[in-house]
Amino acid sequence: MGARATETTRELESTSIKYQIGGHAEKMWQRLKGILRCLVKQLEKGDINVVDLKKNIEYAASVLEAVYIDETRKLLDTEDELSDIQSDSVPLEVRDWLASTFTREMGIVKRRPEEKPKFRSIVHAVQAGIFVERMYRRTSSMVGLAYPAEVIVTFKIPVPNLISFAEALEVGYSKYKNPYHNLIHAADVTQTVHYIMIHTGIMHWLTELEILAMIFAAAVHDYEHTGTTNNFHIQTRSDVAILYNDRSVLENHHVSAAYRLMQEEEMNILANLTKDDWRELRSLVIEMVLSTDMSGHFQQIKTMRHTLQQTEGVDKAKAMSLILHAADISHPAKSWELHYRWTMALMEEFFRQGDKEAALGLQFSPLCDRKSTLVAQSQIGFIDFIVEPTFSLLTDSMEKIVMPLIEEASKSESPAFGTPSQNSLGAVSNAEAQRRPSFKSTSDGGTHTENSLATVDLTSFKDNLMKIIQANKERWKELAVEEELVKNVGEQEKDQSRNSTDAQLQEETTRIQNESSQGSDGTTCPPRSIVLQVVSFDTPLSDESNSEKCTNSDPNQKDLTDAQQETQNTDPLNGEPKHCKKSEDSVKATEKEALIQN
Ligand code: CMP
Ligand code: MG
Ligand code: ZN
Repeated sequence: MGARATETTRELESTSIKYQIGGHAEKMWQRLKGILRCLVKQLEKGDINVVDLKKNIEYAASVLEAVYIDETRKLLDTEDELSDIQSDSVPLEVRDWLASTFTREMGIVKRRPEEKPKFRSIVHAVQAGIFVERMYRRTSSMVGLAYPAEVIVTFKIPVPNLISFAEALEVGYSKYKNPYHNLIHAADVTQTVHYIMIHTGIMHWLTELEILAMIFAAAVHDYEHTGTTNNFHIQTRSDVAILYNDRSVLENHHVSAAYRLMQEEEMNILANLTKDDWRELRSLVIEMVLSTDMSGHFQQIKTMRHTLQQTEGVDKAKAMSLILHAADISHPAKSWELHYRWTMALMEEFFRQGDKEAALGLQFSPLCDRKSTLVAQSQIGFIDFIVEPTFSLLTDSMEKIVMPLIEEASKSESPAFGTPSQNSLGAVSNAEAQRRPSFKSTSDGGTHTENSLATVDLTSFKDNLMKIIQANKERWKELAVEEELVKNVGEQEKDQSRNSTDAQLQEETTRIQNESSQGSDGTTCPPRSIVLQVVSFDTPLSDESNSEKCTNSDPNQKDLTDAQQETQNTDPLNGEPKHCKKSEDSVKATEKEALIQN
């Protein structure tokens, strides 16, 4: 009898090991079932001793554990998504970048030795680009006006604190003078989150505290960004990398530093929140901002896709994190003019990191070598593998969450559906309302029918986004043809073709600049929204004398001060500069005003 029991043990041992290695899940379950049945029979017959029985049960437990680990690993595995990236249509450099940036495993897609990237140069592609430098209009002076009175009243956010906090945020976002990760990116992402909440109807699912958390997280999500990547921090062993043990280094800093600001009494915008609300908001904000770390992208997508397949409801923090993540990479879903400019701004930021890497004797990070980066190709890869799947998941998630709300609301004619009624069905469940007594109502409170669930059209929302994303991809494809040519020609020809690519990109830049800067009266004043100063990349950011502005500013003043001064020349009612028409002579060919609008 002992021999048979040991036999069972051995069988279990070998199959469990085989299982861990091979992962034959289905077979293993059958095996395990058979072995357990056999044990039961042996027990019934009294044909087993206690020691062997214990051993066999322990093995069974270890096999079960192995199955569990394997199942969990499968859920965490991002290789499925990455295998698509192996596709030959994606250049190796772009594949390397996607794999190293959007997963936690560095360099999953290994560079085959025979496929060293062929260096080609589109040096002046950078110069053809344009980037956002600073705002003409300083919004902080209007902060109190910009927020609906209800918001301020509901959370009793002290307006002076809000102004001080917003000012401090602007200072932090301007600290490193980044072409991309600056206060305009923060404003852009915040506005986009707001747009998504309204147009998907998701705001009716969220409590007011959660909506506040979303807006707040978006506003602080890149606070004090250094203009360099997490990997750069890790490689250079920066203070923040040491502080945060190489884990989501920047993202940890963004939230932590923003909360540190609020430790100052005069900047504490959350002073009037109850303890519970404060803690809940903090927990949501931390989760959302940490989820903007792109190395968690594939994992985040996979987990959310899995959630959507389950019958249970969607986890709020996960849905909110997806919204912020989508907003953070949303420029490819906006007009070509905006998308192109944001891309070139980001490329310039990457290239500056590349310059630093070269100076430090480090290898170039992906997309950071200004002499060889395939801008158009990388954008096609970014759209195909990152942006499209994210927005497709976003719209699917919104559908799963909002459709039942729309159905229920239409039945009960709730205020969220546009017809105020006593039996209103709010977005907040009873359980939630009880859990957070101070946030019983839905965000619209039944008073704003313009953003009601009845007006939500998820199909158009999705179609529209996808159409724009596709159109942008086509534009990159056109530019990629030229890029590819340059890559493939010989040294001498390379130079000629490079000029042609540069000319093409320069043409594109000029066209975009002209389109965005032509006001209705033919002046360079943009029609509305946030006015940005855009200079070409060959104008050093730090060289104030090179960048003339609308106003007669002191050349010694720093960016933020300039922006402040520009605010004084801004019509506070419509946000347009009062006199941004420069004398024709003073307008440099490289300097234009441009418009960011979503
Ligand atoms: P961040 O704003 O911190 O978080 C989202 C990241 O996506 C952003 O930094 C960039 O690293 C990356 N990203 C955004 N747009 C693009 C783009 N057009 N091409 C490549 N990467 C991008
Ligand atoms: Mg970020
Ligand atoms: Zn960002």
